[in-house]
Amino acid sequence: MCVMACVAPVAGSVSVAAAEPVPVYRNAAVPVEERIDDLLSRMTTREKVLQLNQFYIGTNNNVNNIGEVVNGIPAEVGSLIYFDGDPALRNAMQRRAVEESRLGIPILFGYDVIHGFRTVYPTSLAQACSWNPALVSEACAVAAQEARQSGVDWTFSPMIDVARDPRWGRVVEGYGEDPYVNGVFGAASVRGYQGDNIADSLKVAACLKHYVAYGASEAGRDYVYTEVSPQTLWDTYLLPYQMCVEAGAQTLMSSFNDISGTPGTANHYTLTEVLKDMWGHDGFVVSDWDAVKQLVAQGNAADMKEAALHAFNAGVEMDMMSYAYDHHLEELIAEGKVSPQRLDDAVRRVLRIKMRLGLFENPYTPEVPDRFLRPASRVTAGRLAAESMVLLKNDSTATLPLKEVSKIAVIGPLAKSKADMLGSWHCHGNPDDVTTLYEGIMNEYGNGAEVRYALGVDKDGDDTSGIAEAVEAAAWADVVILHLGEDYRWGGENASRSTIALPAIQEKLAEAVAGTGKPVVLVLSNGRPLDLSRLEPHANAILEAWQPGVNGGDAMAGILSGRINPSGKLAITFPYSTGQIPIYYNRRPTARPFDRQGLYQDITSEPLYPFGHGLSYTTFEYGTPKADRIDFVADDTIEITIPVTNTGDLTGDETVLWFINDPYSSITRPVKELKYFEKKHLSPGETAEYTFRIDPMRDLAMVDGTGRRILEPGEYRVLVADKVLTLNYKGEKLSR
Ligand code: GLC
Repeated sequence: MCVMACVAPVAGSVSVAAAEPVPVYRNAAVPVEERIDDLLSRMTTREKVLQLNQFYIGTNNNVNNIGEVVNGIPAEVGSLIYFDGDPALRNAMQRRAVEESRLGIPILFGYDVIHGFRTVYPTSLAQACSWNPALVSEACAVAAQEARQSGVDWTFSPMIDVARDPRWGRVVEGYGEDPYVNGVFGAASVRGYQGDNIADSLKVAACLKHYVAYGASEAGRDYVYTEVSPQTLWDTYLLPYQMCVEAGAQTLMSSFNDISGTPGTANHYTLTEVLKDMWGHDGFVVSDWDAVKQLVAQGNAADMKEAALHAFNAGVEMDMMSYAYDHHLEELIAEGKVSPQRLDDAVRRVLRIKMRLGLFENPYTPEVPDRFLRPASRVTAGRLAAESMVLLKNDSTATLPLKEVSKIAVIGPLAKSKADMLGSWHCHGNPDDVTTLYEGIMNEYGNGAEVRYALGVDKDGDDTSGIAEAVEAAAWADVVILHLGEDYRWGGENASRSTIALPAIQEKLAEAVAGTGKPVVLVLSNGRPLDLSRLEPHANAILEAWQPGVNGGDAMAGILSGRINPSGKLAITFPYSTGQIPIYYNRRPTARPFDRQGLYQDITSEPLYPFGHGLSYTTFEYGTPKADRIDFVADDTIEITIPVTNTGDLTGDETVLWFINDPYSSITRPVKELKYFEKKHLSPGETAEYTFRIDPMRDLAMVDGTGRRILEPGEYRVLVADKVLTLNYKGEKLSR
C-alpha cells in the first residue's frame, strides 16, 4: 500500500540551479542560522507547512513500482519514515526532493532503530541491567552505522519512559523504574547514536520518547490516561529527559498519553515552557504516530483542525502521519490562529536539524554492501547480551556454573526460538541471524556432552502432549536447562497483559520436569518482569536472559558453563505477584513502618527479586564507606569511597549502587534514591576503591513541582550495600 498523494508538487516549480548562483542557504561556509534565515525568506507558506509533515515510504519497495511510490509523495515533505533496509528508494525519493522541487530541501528519513538495525542486541530494559553505559553507547554506535548506511538519518530512540507497571507492554522499551537510570542510559544512547557530530556519515540524530510520563499509563493499559502530579512529573518523569537534553539529543517525540487532563501532544507546559523555555532545547518535537489527530478521540479537540491548532501551538513541530497539519495549518495561519513567528520557529527547528545532519551537502546515501553484522558488531551485541543477563537464583547446591555434566536436556518453547530472541521493535533484525540457547549449548558442549532437546509445550495454549517426552529427556539427563518466557509480540506497543505470570502451560511443564528430581536451570527470555512465584520452587537456578539479540545463545551458554561470570543486576523490580503492582524500590515512606502495619494480609509485601538484585559466581565483600567530610556546604564536593574485595576464586564484575535518603524534608522523599553507580572488574582477592563524588545540589537536593532544586539544612544519608553514612548540611535553604 503506497502513501496516497496528499498534494501536487508546489505550482510554478522551477529548478533553482537555472535561476541564480548558489544561494546563501546552500553555502555550507555560512553559519547555519544565516542559511536558515535565507531559506525561510524564500519559502512559501505551503512549503513551510510541508516541512512540518512526516509521511512514510518503503512499505512496497519492489522495483517495478518504485517510480509510483516515489511519485505518490510530495517532494517538499519534511520527513519520511523509512521502512526499507537499503538506500535505493531513499535516494530515489531524495533525488526528487533535491533536484526537482523548487528549493531542493532534502528530506529527513527516520525510523525505529530501537535496539539495533540489523545487528540486534538486547532490549533497552535488559541493557539497563548491564549497568554498563559505555557498552550501550558502543552498541548504539553500531546501530547508527547500520542505519545511516541504509538510508536512515534519524532514529526514534532512546525511549526513556520511567515505568513501574510491568503489565504495560512497553516497559521493555525503556530502562526500568528509576529516573536516574533512564537518564544515564538514555544519555549513553544519545552519545552512541549522535557521536560528536551528526553530520558524520555513521551517526544519526536521536529522538527522546515518549515525552512525557507515558510509562505512568493507568493499570498498564496503552494509550490511556496518566495521573501525574506536578511533583511527580518533575521528580520522576522529566528527570531523564532533562539529562538527555543536556546530553545533546536533537529531537523528541510527544506522547499519546493524557497527562492529568492535557495530552502529551497538546501540552504547552511540557512542550514549550519546560522543553524550550526552561531547558533551551533548539531541536524539534515530532508527534507520535497519528497522535495529533488522536487529540479528538481524547476529547482535547473538537476536530482535526482544532487538534492541529492545539498540538502546533503547544510545541509539536512535526505531525507524524495524521495529516492534520497538512490539511489545516495554512487555514489556521490565514485565520491568525497560528502566528507567522510560530510557523517560522517550527520550520527553523526542522531545517536546523537537517543542516546539522549535513543533508544539504550530502543528501544521498552511498551503497555500502558489507554494512550489516560485521564481526566486531556481533561481538558488541554478544558482550551486551552477556552483561545484561541477571542470575536471579543459584541454590545451595550451586547448580551453576554447570560442572561435570555429560548429559544435558534442553527443554522448552524458547530454546530453539530465533524470533523471540530478537524481542519487540527489532527493526531489520532477521531471525536467521540469531544463535538460540540450544545452538549455544551445542557450541559450548557439543564435543564433550550429549545434548537432548524436547519442546515440552508451546508458549501458550493447553496442549500438554509434549510433556511426557520432556520428562523422559529430563529423567535421562544430568541437568535440565529449561528455557521459558514470552513470545516477542507479548511486549512492546499495544501489548498490555492483565497478568505478568507466564501461561499456565509453561508452569505445568516446569512442575513436571522438576518432578524428575534432576537439577533444573530455568532460563528466561521475556520483555517484562514476570511473576515467578510458582516457577521459582521448581528451579535450582534461574537466569534472566531477557531477549538477548543475535548473539544471545552463546552468551547464555557462556554463563551456564561458567566461561562468563554473570554481572547483571535488575534495573526493575520483579513483583512476587501481579497483585503487588505497582511495586518499586524508590517509593515514599509508609506512615507505619512498624508492627507489620499496612502489609498485605494474603501474600508477602516484598517483591520476589528487588531492584539491584543479581548474583555472581564469585563473592564480593564491602568495606566501610569513608567520607572526606561529614558537615558540608552547598558548593562542596563530598567524596565518599568504599573498598570492595573479590573474596571468591573467580574474576567478576561488580556494580556498586550509591543511594541517598533525606529522612526529613518539606516535600517527602523516597526511602532511597539511586544517584550514582559504577561497575568494575575485580580479579580474585583484588580490592578496588569505588568513589562517589557528591554535588549536593545535583545529588542531594530535592526537586519541587516547578522544577526548582531545593537543598534544605539537615541530615542526608548515603546508602551503599548495607552501609549507611550520614552527612550534615549546615547551610541555609537553597533553591536554584
Ligand atoms: C509508534 C510508537 C512510537 C514509534 C512511532 C513510529 O506508534 O508509539 O514509539 O516511534 O509510532 O513508528
